[in-house]
Amino acid sequence: MSLTVCNVHLTPKSEKMVYVSHTLLKQLNLSGKRSVRLHLGSSSIPVTVKPIRKAGKHMYIPASLRQRFRVPKSGSVFLLNETEGEVQLGPLIGIMSDAAQRSSTHPFGSRTSFIKQILKAGSKKGYVFAFAPRDINWQNETVYAYFINEAGTWVRRTVPLPDVIYNRLPSRKAETSTYINTLRERFVRRNIPFFNWSFFNKSDVYALLKDEVAANRYVPESVMNPNADVIKDMLDKHQFVYYKPTAGSLGIGIYRLTYLPKKGYFARYTTGGKNILLRFKKFSSLMRMLEGRHGRSLRNYVVQQGVRLAEIDGCPIDFRFHVHKNGENKWVVVGIGAKKAGKGSVTTHVKNGGQLMTPKQALERTFGDRAGEIIDKAKDVAVELAEAIERNYPHRLGELGFDLGIDRDEQVWMFEANAKPGRSIFKHPALRSEGRSSVEHILEHCLYLSKFHRREEP
Ligand SMILES: Nc1ncnc2c1ncn2[C@@H]1O[C@H](COP(=O)(O)OP(=O)(O)O)[C@@H](O)[C@H]1O
Ligand SMILES: [Mg+2]
Repeated sequence: MSLTVCNVHLTPKSEKMVYVSHTLLKQLNLSGKRSVRLHLGSSSIPVTVKPIRKAGKHMYIPASLRQRFRVPKSGSVFLLNETEGEVQLGPLIGIMSDAAQRSSTHPFGSRTSFIKQILKAGSKKGYVFAFAPRDINWQNETVYAYFINEAGTWVRRTVPLPDVIYNRLPSRKAETSTYINTLRERFVRRNIPFFNWSFFNKSDVYALLKDEVAANRYVPESVMNPNADVIKDMLDKHQFVYYKPTAGSLGIGIYRLTYLPKKGYFARYTTGGKNILLRFKKFSSLMRMLEGRHGRSLRNYVVQQGVRLAEIDGCPIDFRFHVHKNGENKWVVVGIGAKKAGKGSVTTHVKNGGQLMTPKQALERTFGDRAGEIIDKAKDVAVELAEAIERNYPHRLGELGFDLGIDRDEQVWMFEANAKPGRSIFKHPALRSEGRSSVEHILEHCLYLSKFHRREEP
């Protein structure tokens, strides 16, 4: 097998011949060959090759072939030569997302700038494009793709189905539809690697880790769809619990419930930007309040042992660990953001008054010179958790965002794992380079999955 970089030129010629420089032919073990099968993503065509004298590695593709062989642009690209007489151009990398409203400048809504960042960073690694499910034509096996040109503006091209797909579909609800399920199955059936499959539910992740003895130590005791007796028992056992929607995010619908003997039951939550604290003499009154506010949707709640987080100025802090699979298919921690809760807030979300910090800033204030050691241990935990989730998850994973807490005894706890992690931590000036590294890791993992490793032979 050989992998090499070549310069693709798109010519206006109408002949059916592909001109290839001598150096490139030699590199691809094609010297003396007259016909070759060229592949791009899911499509391939037989072509006649003609050697030309030109220094360097060049391939000239005439316009007449471009109708059928949809090379999106000229420039440098990888060539993979696994089987004799077969040459694959690429990789063709698809970033799948969507938006309720697509404008010409923001076809992917609020995700547009992140997607642009991936496409820009990937422009030298292959053909990287973005698309929405509705851009796929299954009959022709093509995608009406979004590329960016050198000026950074969007251009549309029709390309074959890609070699690999990074899933950033934004809607939890749409993702459970038959339409999207069928779409994913179709990619799998065609052996097109697809990561990440979908958003996680909190309780699904806790369940995945149940039999992972080592990793499960980091999961606070949790019960899905608890009845009143279970919530009461958990309060008796742990003094305080978190009660949260299993498919929730951004802290929406989360309660912190506390039991103080002789004082009663307390519920803390945020609504309409305000932090509320309610006190109940009787447990049944607390339950009535929760049922009154949520009714049947409480069935999708999980009750979880409360963890006494390390604090700064009396406000709890927790952490986002952004982990990726790299070009060698190994999990690595790429960025860590620390978050200090807003005064009186149940969660650390910035939207609820939380403050973003670097982990060092946060931990040095609480644990002094033990900070470095604690961060290193938490990094190992994040990798261990990612590996354990992956072992038990039926689909391919390449990126995860963990919400981790560290308690006053330095024990690490996992509150949730996000399969479509947000990128707000990378807005911190000290974490911008980690943000770029995160994008690089996405691309490197795509190269790995598409078999286009960067192992160029001399
Ligand atoms: N069991 C818990 N103990 C202590 N704090 C918790 C617990 N569960 C959640 N939290 C706090 O609430 C925040 C939000 O919880 P999380 O499970 O991440 O839900 P969401 O999906 O809304 O982000 C966490 O980042 C953490 O600060
Ligand atoms: Mg969270």
